[in-house]
Amino acid sequence: MKSKKEKIEELSKKREQALLGGGRERIGKIHETGRLTARERIHLLFDEGSFQEMGVFVTHRSTWPGMAEKKIVGDGVVCGQGTIEGRLTYAYAQDFTVFGGSLSESNAGKIIRLMDIALDNGAPVVGLSDSGGARIQEGVASLAGYASIFLRNTLASGVVPQISAIMGPSAGGAVYSPALTDFIFMVEGTSHMFITGPGVIKKVTHEDVTQEDLGGARTHNTKSGVAHFLAADDEECIEKIRRLLSFLPNNNLEDPPYIHPTDDPLRMDPRLNDIVPDSAKDPYDIKEVIKMIVDDGIFFEVQELFAMNLVIGYARLNGHVIGIVANQPNHLAGVLDIESSVKGARFIRFCDAFNIPLVTFEDVPGFLPGTDQEWHGIIKHGAKLIFAYCEATVPKLTVITRKAYGGAYCVMSSKHIRSDYNVAWPTAELAVMGAEGAADILYGKEIEAAEDPDAERQRRIEHYADTFENPYVAAGLGYLDDVIMPDNTRPMLIHALENLLNKRQQLPPKKHGNIPL
Ligand code: HXC
Repeated sequence: MKSKKEKIEELSKKREQALLGGGRERIGKIHETGRLTARERIHLLFDEGSFQEMGVFVTHRSTWPGMAEKKIVGDGVVCGQGTIEGRLTYAYAQDFTVFGGSLSESNAGKIIRLMDIALDNGAPVVGLSDSGGARIQEGVASLAGYASIFLRNTLASGVVPQISAIMGPSAGGAVYSPALTDFIFMVEGTSHMFITGPGVIKKVTHEDVTQEDLGGARTHNTKSGVAHFLAADDEECIEKIRRLLSFLPNNNLEDPPYIHPTDDPLRMDPRLNDIVPDSAKDPYDIKEVIKMIVDDGIFFEVQELFAMNLVIGYARLNGHVIGIVANQPNHLAGVLDIESSVKGARFIRFCDAFNIPLVTFEDVPGFLPGTDQEWHGIIKHGAKLIFAYCEATVPKLTVITRKAYGGAYCVMSSKHIRSDYNVAWPTAELAVMGAEGAADILYGKEIEAAEDPDAERQRRIEHYADTFENPYVAAGLGYLDDVIMPDNTRPMLIHALENLLNKRQQLPPKKHGNIPL
């Protein structure tokens, strides 16, 4: 029988084993690749000393030959709760030093329990992935673990924020848990996500592609749009996760975190009066506009490298969190296309689910024409953006800085789809289309028959522009609440937002809508 001293020593030894995971040699290899270990990541994520671990002594139950001798305390995933900037958060980190971080029945059980508790307690879940996928020795029991996690991801969607960071490999069906969460972070050079790797691709489609090109951090941040954030290394990744969480409520019943403002709500930036160029064809940077308006110029952009013609992200107005959706005249003239529509729709739905008011900055020439867009379904993808704006019941504020043409006028949070406060700058142009196109369609015959067709065309363009390319027709119809001086945008938005903070609006009772997927 063991003495009390021996029992205490046994506990210390087991704890030490748990802290070491797969052992010092494997930890060394992780560091050689530039990655941190699961425990180092957890340590960085949570406020100092706040982390409390769950399922510390869990081991696998595999009966595969030789596995009984290879039971590692914790079984390859570190799970627990702690605080991030003082707010309760749940997290799990897969430990690549233990069977390559693979998912076993037992360690899936730890993740499932963590997710259930997080949901019961209304707190976000952060998953730090670094895994070779399903634990091969456990077969279908591991697959059952994945499926059970997918179910939790889906049930938790819209109830608590879910954040995934891919910090190593993530292959096969394993990619679908992150894909079901709200935000995906990836680390440059060390993280990969793909359904099938380069080897299988070579056999099936005869394509040669590297892991990095196929599913590296840059690929998913620029090409596929699967990822939302790119980090240079693990430290930056975790710092960015903490920053993102500072804008999010812990659950769908809370308001986003208010902070005491350090910026003057009445501050007017005179540079705003000059930022829109005289020519409608010249670009300007909408991010500059955003930074001149929001608290302390701080804008936390989401999907910065994908569909750059639409800018999305978080900021604060007089301490209140807002989600910003803005056309970017600096990229493809701010046109709406498939990628930007889907990007915007997903962001709007997240904000709506988590009580984050939406502020839209509009300068959009319309939807992108072309066979590529039509054949890839711009109709249904553009409809997603309409659906998301129409469905959103959070406060919605819109500032039209320049163009609001055609269908895009309707889509970008117009009054008609229940936006609460819509204003335009004097430079705004609300019309079915630009003056040149309109003149050609309406007066094509007259222009052709004229003695000097060029002069006639110019005359018609100017007449159309003078009549319609302004904000006053829409304002006269009550489609705009006001036409404001650009430098007055911050005070006006803050005033309107603070009047809307108690807004309550219901959708008709239904099981769920049918967003055009
Ligand atoms: C058990 C695994 C494992 C796995 C890796 N290991 N993946 N053990 N199950 N899935 C073990 C290795 O045997 C090795 O153990 C250790 O982890 C480190 O692996 P290495 O190969 O040495 O590391 P590295 O060279 O960095 O390569 C990492 C890797 C590679 C790219 C992830 O290990 C790999 O390709 N693994 C298999 C990936 C895979 O096909 N998984 C199944 C996907 S299907 P030792 O003891 O030698 O150090 C899937 C279905 C999910 O996941 C379905 C959900 C619906």
